[in-house]
Amino acid sequence: MNKTALITGASKGIGRELAILFAEKRCNIVLVARSEKELRELKEELRNKHALSTVLMLVKDLSLPDAAQELFDEIKAREIDPDYLVNNAGFGDYGAFADTSWERYEKMIALNVTTLTHLTHLYVRDWCGRKPGRILNISSTAAFQPGPMMAVYFATKAFVLHLSEAIGDELKKNHITVTALCPGPTDTHFGEESKMNASQLVKNVRIAGAAEVALLGYNAMMKGKPVAVHGAMNSLVPFAIRFMPRKWVTRLSAKVMKI
Ligand SMILES: NC(=O)c1ccc[n+]([C@@H]2O[C@H](COP(=O)([O-])OP(=O)(O)OC[C@H]3O[C@@H](n4cnc5c(N)ncnc54)[C@H](OP(=O)(O)O)[C@@H]3O)[C@@H](O)[C@H]2O)c1
Repeated sequence: MNKTALITGASKGIGRELAILFAEKRCNIVLVARSEKELRELKEELRNKHALSTVLMLVKDLSLPDAAQELFDEIKAREIDPDYLVNNAGFGDYGAFADTSWERYEKMIALNVTTLTHLTHLYVRDWCGRKPGRILNISSTAAFQPGPMMAVYFATKAFVLHLSEAIGDELKKNHITVTALCPGPTDTHFGEESKMNASQLVKNVRIAGAAEVALLGYNAMMKGKPVAVHGAMNSLVPFAIRFMPRKWVTRLSAKVMKI
């Protein structure tokens, strides 16, 4: 029987590419995001190209309170039982901590942290003792160090990495794998939306394609790897900073993040 993947933030970027990969493997898919038009176009594309029996799209703002519970209940009510959960929806915002509104941070934490954690909790409890499952959480290379000028975003991604590694260890005995994918700068809508494109970080590194990042995440998830960092240079940084005083790491990060 075909398996089913639930993918948040599937309307564009890395999430869209992940949806295509799952479809190529003849997996049924539940696509979630806010943009109805993009989801509808992707749904039609996946249906026509891959003749999937189930491509469900759910238009939902996952930064709203109780979004995870509502999504879980809606999928249950349709008698869909996902085997893969991909927590991909997320956003960042470039700017000084004091200059950014609380409303923006509240939404970011709600989406990047609260909904991701709640949805993971709901599916882990649902799967435990009943069936195996795989979870792919999209973290970032931002997870490995503090990020002046994107302080809250970096902190949310550190949360995602640590959560994924910890529960992945706990859940081994339940045959549930948890993978944290850590992309570096990637060519999606993220750079524009977060205003990060202006920073030295984006100007001075190779920008990866969304499809190659998605493929790394997909393969790592299927192998049950705890962490996958995209790109050789990106993998070097978390290793190298282990040997530096934390103060230096933050200063270095501040240099890289400046305009
Ligand atoms: N691009 C990078 O450089 C980079 C690097 C490291 C990590 N990441 C992470 O990769 C993940 C995917 O981002 P991306 O680069 O593919 O960016 P993207 O092109 O902007 O895609 C973000 C996805 O999240 C969805 N989304 C945003 N806010 C949402 C909300 N409130 N409710 C539901 N869905 C929402 C968007 O759909 P709608 O707008 O239709 O809702 C879209 O499908 C994010 O978690 C991001 O933090 C990106």
